[in-house]
Amino acid sequence: MLLPSVITILLVSYTQAYSALQDAQVIAEFKRESELNHTKIVRELVHRANWASVGTISTNGYVKDYPMVNIISIDDNNEQKVSTGVIRFLLTDLDFTGNDWQSNNKVTFMFTDEQTLNCKSYNKDPMEPTCARAMLSGQVTKMDKDSPKYNSSLRVFIDRHPAAEKWITRHQFYLCELDIQNIFVLDFYGGPHQVNVSDYYAINI
Ligand SMILES: *[C@@H]1O[C@H](CO)[C@@H](O)[C@H](O)[C@H]1NC(C)=O
Ligand SMILES: *[C@@H]1O[C@H](CO)[C@@H](O)[C@H](O)[C@H]1NC(C)=O
Ligand SMILES: *[C@@H]1O[C@H](CO)[C@@H](O)[C@H](O)[C@H]1NC(C)=O
Repeated sequence: MLLPSVITILLVSYTQAYSALQDAQVIAEFKRESELNHTKIVRELVHRANWASVGTISTNGYVKDYPMVNIISIDDNNEQKVSTGVIRFLLTDLDFTGNDWQSNNKVTFMFTDEQTLNCKSYNKDPMEPTCARAMLSGQVTKMDKDSPKYNSSLRVFIDRHPAAEKWITRHQFYLCELDIQNIFVLDFYGGPHQVNVSDYYAINI
């Protein structure tokens, strides 16, 4: 007879559609999201990373006006090795980024939790929204080599990137800061959040 098997299928699919366990998981995830401190997540991503993927608008003849990406070593520590959120980095005109920002000073720095393999260790794919990432856009500010701050900032940077000592002597590298204009963070389902730049600098992590 056909009818009892249809009823069986309906019953089975109904019991599969509702699961108290799944409900509890969904509620737990939403609770987790409401507790996420987006500003803190961005500051921690920046501080933990030794480098960023940096996007610029290319001036290179072969890929003119294409988005160009590069790896740039970064540091946000002060002399006490405390995070400030100020992103410092060395650039040279021999590189893509060095030429691009001087033509069109619009750059985006990207950080992901996967840089420290934190997503892999929790079995999260780098593209999943729960593998946190932040995109910080702004302008490159070349630091004044004659300011007293320059040498001390450079020393702090070299502390974290000892190899930089060699680059500086061989090539014309100059220390820069990112003047942050916008911060996006993706740290959960439901799309990216904007983080207020003043709040970003203000918190202590
Ligand atoms: C986020 O974390 C920072 C640093 O711990 C804290 O100062 C700030 O109050 C937190 N913000 C929220 C909304 O919880
Ligand atoms: C910074 O260091 C350079 C190279 O060591 C030196 O020539 C310069 O005088 C220093 N500048 C300041 C302001 O101390
Ligand atoms: C960011 O926060 C500061 C201080 O609370 C506020 O003055 C400023 O208007 C905010 N900026 C934006 C873009 O919301």
